[in-house]
Amino acid sequence: MSNSPELITDLTQLAQWVQAQSDDGLSVGLVPTMGALHAGHLSLVKSAAQQSDVVLVTIFVNPTQFAADEDLQQYPRDLEGDLQRLQSVAKVTVFAPTVTDIYPSGKSPATNIESNELDDVATRWEGEQRPGHFLGVTTIVHKLFTLTKPQIAFFGRKDYQQLRVIEQLNEEHRHNIKIVGCPIVREEDGLAMSSRNAYLTAAQRTQATAIYKGLQTACSMANNMEMAATELQEVVQKQLGNAEINRIDYVAVVHPKSLEPLVLLDRTEQIKQIKLGAIILVAVFVGNTRLIDNIYIPPINP
Ligand code: PAF
Repeated sequence: MSNSPELITDLTQLAQWVQAQSDDGLSVGLVPTMGALHAGHLSLVKSAAQQSDVVLVTIFVNPTQFAADEDLQQYPRDLEGDLQRLQSVAKVTVFAPTVTDIYPSGKSPATNIESNELDDVATRWEGEQRPGHFLGVTTIVHKLFTLTKPQIAFFGRKDYQQLRVIEQLNEEHRHNIKIVGCPIVREEDGLAMSSRNAYLTAAQRTQATAIYKGLQTACSMANNMEMAATELQEVVQKQLGNAEINRIDYVAVVHPKSLEPLVLLDRTEQIKQIKLGAIILVAVFVGNTRLIDNIYIPPINP
């Protein structure tokens, strides 16, 4: 049996496909992507194939989540290569719409998410550094959920804040979809896989390994001694500084659900909170390439 993906490029064809799965009583696992697929995306597809009857991968470089000064034009696009990569993983259907299909009149208010619908989870960290970004993400994900009607949807934990924002979107708009956050897939030296890694020069690629090294060091220190959030941040910042990564958007130790910073509390409170489980979020520039990563500090037994 060939695993060659069925390619859907228009909305009528998509609606027929969605209806056919529903008529056959098949559960749809959705993997939304912006293409330039790497092993991280393929792991989402594998999970989807294990947990649903049919897998729908969407490939769409969503213009509304890029700010004017960001890399929309430069963002890698390789539909042929993506279809081949998918073929080696599982039998999937691919939906690759045009920008006009998704945004027929530039922006269609009926399905755009408004900024007052996003709460605190969306406004800090990435929300602060990339104004408008989560409006674009939630708008496209809401449209994709509505168009494709999946039972389960798969997202990578590398974009941890995005995952939390989408969980909230799912609840608030009652999509009733099971949202699965899949583990971060890393290169052998620990760098989190990202389509943007392709922008790095060889020297920058080496520098970038400091991100995960810093996160790992901080995480194991948190596990082994009583460290406050500020101290953990300093550990990561030091490792970044040693690698001459000096443009840091944020290094933050946060509550895993609310993403509230734990640094606002006093030292003892911070340690107590970290012991209950925390996430360290990082966003930095290596050269002109913006990279994000995170690590989960699991609850620490006394
Ligand atoms: O994580 C991504 O690739 C994108 O933000 C997503 C979820 C596909 C929306 O465009």
